[in-house]
Amino acid sequence: MALVPSKGVGISVQVLVLSAAAATTLLFFLLFTFLSPWSPCSCPTPAVLNESDKILEPTSASVEDIDWLKSQIEANGLHMQPNVLRKGINPRTRQRQLQDLLQFKGISHYEGEEANNHTALPCPGELLVEEHHSYYGEPWAGGRDVFEFLAGAVHLTPNSQVLEIGCGTLRVGLHFIRYLNPGYYHCLERDELSLMAAFQYELPSHGLLFKRPLIIKGEDMDFSKFGHETTYDLIYASAVFLHMPDKLVWTALERLVGRLKPLQGGILVSHNIKFCSRLGGEECTKRLNSLGLGYVGKHIHDSLLFNHYDIWFEFRRSKA
Ligand SMILES: C[S@@+](CC[C@H](N)C(=O)[O-])C[C@H]1O[C@@H](n2cnc3c(N)ncnc32)[C@H](O)[C@@H]1O
Ligand SMILES: *[C@@H]1O[C@H](CO)[C@@H](O)[C@H](O)[C@H]1NC(C)=O
Ligand SMILES: *[C@@H]1O[C@H](CO)[C@@H](O)[C@H](O)[C@H]1NC(C)=O
Repeated sequence: MALVPSKGVGISVQVLVLSAAAATTLLFFLLFTFLSPWSPCSCPTPAVLNESDKILEPTSASVEDIDWLKSQIEANGLHMQPNVLRKGINPRTRQRQLQDLLQFKGISHYEGEEANNHTALPCPGELLVEEHHSYYGEPWAGGRDVFEFLAGAVHLTPNSQVLEIGCGTLRVGLHFIRYLNPGYYHCLERDELSLMAAFQYELPSHGLLFKRPLIIKGEDMDFSKFGHETTYDLIYASAVFLHMPDKLVWTALERLVGRLKPLQGGILVSHNIKFCSRLGGEECTKRLNSLGLGYVGKHIHDSLLFNHYDIWFEFRRSKA
């Protein structure tokens, strides 16, 4: 037998056959254990998402969050350095970036006819370089501060119904859209370019199309397109009423009272309420009361990122 070592190492043919059989059995057993779909397996099972087990996204940074962040900056020895050209980092103005985008387009891009049929949501260059993040005097980051303040003021939950008047480029609205359940954020805005920025850049680039915000173009405080049944937990105007004629603000308030949830719903207005103070305190109170509104008070909210505070004025329904 060629298989048997010639110098008689003490292994008989029978032993060899037996070991081969045993090895085959073991192999089959192992194969079966690892490959069969019904065998018990200690591999991690994917978590089953249960709506009521879902961890709620917090609406504000906690003291622990801020301590943690400061410790990370310190542990990494980070400081603001002069922002100059260095390997792979090429600081540019928005204008320069737009010029480069139009002229050079980066390394990978389609040419000719192919350039027009590979991009599902072709976004204008001005928006791609985020020019709309500088549309208002105040920094884009302040949108988060506004969200955090308002969320706290009305005890926002993902089921809250929210209406924004003059959402612009969604500097604030984006944070609501992300937090709220699909369809629960509404906005009336008149500026077409801002709406383009919202629809063509902000929503798709933040992966928020699935949230189906209801954003409607209009400037006459006509809320009929938002449906007649919807009542809101929060109606807010961030840096908007101060830019509107007083008469239009009063028209808005008159039409919005009935759309406010009777007890918990609040109307919050930023910056100032000159539409009210210009009438004189007593006259304003009278006018608010005649609409079924009451002035609750003034709030101050400090920014997380820069030396700035927001001023807010709150109104609620005086009759349930
Ligand atoms: C200073 S921006 C504030 C935008 C946004 N609320 C924010 O905080 O980032 C004012 C916005 O109000 C909008 N607006 C002004 N008057 C309006 C009107 N009558 N109807 C709808 N929107 C209006 C402007 O188009 C603009 O987008
Ligand atoms: C989700 O969790 C809740 C509370 O733990 C439980 O009552 C409910 O039956 C669960 N739902 C599903 C679909 O597992
Ligand atoms: C885009 O158009 C070009 C030219 O008409 C065609 O050859 C190509 O297959 C198209 N590509 C896609 C992804 O539709």
